[in-house]
Amino acid sequence: MRLKGKIALVTGASRGIGRASALALAHEGATIVGVARTKAELDELCRAISASGGSASSFVADVTKAADVAAAVGDCVAKHGRIDILVNNVGMGGYRPFLEWSEADYDRIMATNAKSTWLFCKEVIPHMLSNGGGNIINVASVAGLQGYANEAIYCSSKFAQVGLTQALDREFWQKNIKVSAICPGGVETHFALGDGRTAGSEHMKGFSTAEDVAEAVVLAALPRDRSRIVAVVMRPMNEQT
Ligand SMILES: NC(=O)c1ccc[n+]([C@@H]2O[C@H](COP(=O)([O-])OP(=O)(O)OC[C@H]3O[C@@H](n4cnc5c(N)ncnc54)[C@H](OP(=O)(O)O)[C@@H]3O)[C@@H](O)[C@H]2O)c1
Repeated sequence: MRLKGKIALVTGASRGIGRASALALAHEGATIVGVARTKAELDELCRAISASGGSASSFVADVTKAADVAAAVGDCVAKHGRIDILVNNVGMGGYRPFLEWSEADYDRIMATNAKSTWLFCKEVIPHMLSNGGGNIINVASVAGLQGYANEAIYCSSKFAQVGLTQALDREFWQKNIKVSAICPGGVETHFALGDGRTAGSEHMKGFSTAEDVAEAVVLAALPRDRSRIVAVVMRPMNEQT
């Protein structure tokens, strides 16, 4: 129970890496506030955490909307008094040749992946400053470290997340706000379907699991006096570096 007493807000907690991270943080004793758009899946997560002796609540929000983000953070602070751990995990992508993506696609992917991370940081950092610090964990991607064909907008959004992570680390580390980027390669979730992959297909089975990534999220969140995790890069065993 290395996170007992900590309050953790996890975005995209309804499924995939966000759900696994919420469960793993709860397993370490953190109280979870799960955020996503699908109430039924958030309710199911809260039941699962309660059933294993943990504490969780949810907030339905579209993280691309500033008012929703402010409401989610405001509700968490009203209920719990603070936020110790913020996991910016929401994300979306897709695979298509560069010339087939539209302006609307660009706006949607950048808002979902990059702008939402910025919005949550902007809302949460003032609370962390007044509480003496905290952990911000941005679930980025190896696509935030190198470009991939057919994923131009996704890569742009993930580079933006990694850039924001580095900038915030440099701006706030001396205030005890630790900002980390977790950069997984392929992970077997709903997100990774497409580009020839289907649920349970051989290639998907060779990917990392959501639980693997959740372990990295916990590692970044664990309290330690003399160091901070700035970045974690992960690769599944069926993927080259
Ligand atoms: N899977 C991979 O291969 C992989 C690899 C590297 C990095 N990542 C990154 O890992 C993160 C999580 O991905 P995943 O694989 O777990 O994906 P996922 O299974 O598709 O889950 C995405 C989550 O984001 C939520 N979400 C999406 N748009 C939202 C919005 N506008 N407002 C609120 N919630 C929203 C979804 O919930 P609702 O639909 O209920 O809102 C869901 O909980 C993403 O940032 C992704 O880029 C994934």
